[in-house]
Amino acid sequence: MVNYKELGLVNTREMFKKAVAGGYAIPAFNFNTMEQMQAIVQAAVETKSPVIMQVSKGARNYANGTILRYMAQGAVEYAKELGCEKPEIVLHLDHGDSFEICKECIDNGFSSVMIDGSSLPYEENIALTKKVVEYAHKFDVTVEAELGVLAGVEDEVSSAVSHYTKPEEVIDFSTRSGCDSLAISIGTSHGAYKFTPEQCTRDPKTGKLVPPPLAFDILHQIEEKLPGFPIVLHGSSSVPQDEVDTINAFGGKLPDAVGIPEEQLREASKSAVCKINIDSDSRLAMTAAIRKHLAENPSHFDPRQYLKPARENMKKMYIHKIVEVLGSDNKL
Ligand code: G3H
Ligand code: 13P
Ligand code: ZN
Repeated sequence: MVNYKELGLVNTREMFKKAVAGGYAIPAFNFNTMEQMQAIVQAAVETKSPVIMQVSKGARNYANGTILRYMAQGAVEYAKELGCEKPEIVLHLDHGDSFEICKECIDNGFSSVMIDGSSLPYEENIALTKKVVEYAHKFDVTVEAELGVLAGVEDEVSSAVSHYTKPEEVIDFSTRSGCDSLAISIGTSHGAYKFTPEQCTRDPKTGKLVPPPLAFDILHQIEEKLPGFPIVLHGSSSVPQDEVDTINAFGGKLPDAVGIPEEQLREASKSAVCKINIDSDSRLAMTAAIRKHLAENPSHFDPRQYLKPARENMKKMYIHKIVEVLGSDNKL
C-alpha cells in the first residue's frame, strides 16, 4: 500500500474548490509516455499551473501501471527540480470501469480516481460509485463519477449516441453516491472525430467543418441544481486544424477531423466546469511533429531526434491550453 501523500501528490478537493471560485479549469492531460510526462510538467511549471496527470486503462496496458505511478512520482520531483517549490500534481485514474481497478490504483499511489458507471442503469451507477467513494475516502482519495453518456468510445464503454446528462438527476446522484466531482455529457465526445460532417456546417472560406455548439443550457441547469459542485468535461480536445493539416501534408490521413472550438471551452472554464480532459490534442501534436521531422530528415533514425520536436510541440500545446483556454496559469 502506497499513499499518494508519500509521493508528494495531491487530491483534487482544494484544487477544484479554488478553480470553481476563481472561474478557471484545471487541465487533465492523459499520459502514456515519458515525453508526454516531461512536456506536461514543463508546461505546468512554466505557467505556475496545477495539473492533473491521468492514466487510462489503455495507458496501463501500454506502459504498465507501476511504471506510470513512478513516472508521476518522478513528475513531482522533476517539477521541484525545475524550480516549482510546491507543485500541485494529481495522479488520476481515467475511466476506471470497476471497483477493483479503482482499489488497485488507490492502493498504489493514485490521488484521484474516476469510476465510470455511465453505461450502467442509474441505480447501478450510484451503487458502484458509492462503493468506490467509501473505499477512496478512507485514504483521502477523491472520486469522479459520470452521469450521461458521451458519444464514441470510452475505453471499453461504448455508445453510438450521445445521451445528455439529465439535470433533474444530478442532485440525487451526487448526494447518494457521495462523489467529489461529476463528469457530464453536454455534446463533447472522445477522439479526433467528434462530429460527423453532417452534424457540422462548413466555413465557406476555409472549407473546414464548423461544429455545433455544446449544450450550455444543460450545463447551466446543472450548475443551478448543484451550486459550486465541481463539474468535469471529457472529450474536450479542440483538434487543432494546423496539426491536422501538418499530419495530412506529411503522409497522414485524417480527413474531416474536428473537435470542440476553444471559445466554448473558454466559456465552460469560467463556469462550474473545473476539470477539462485533453488527450487527442496531445496525440495530434506529437504525431504532427514526428511526421514532419521524419519527412524533412529522412536519414534520421535516432528516436531522440524526432521525439524532441514532438515533446516541444506538445509542451507548446499544453501551455496554450493552460494560458489561453482554461486560465489555470499563475494559480500556484
Ligand atoms: O477517454 C479516453 C482517453 O483518451 C484515453 O484513451 O484508452 O486510448 O488511452 P485510451
Ligand atoms: P479527447 O479525446 O477529446 O482528448 O478526450 C480525452 C478524455 O476525455 C479522456 O478521458
Ligand atoms: Zn474521457
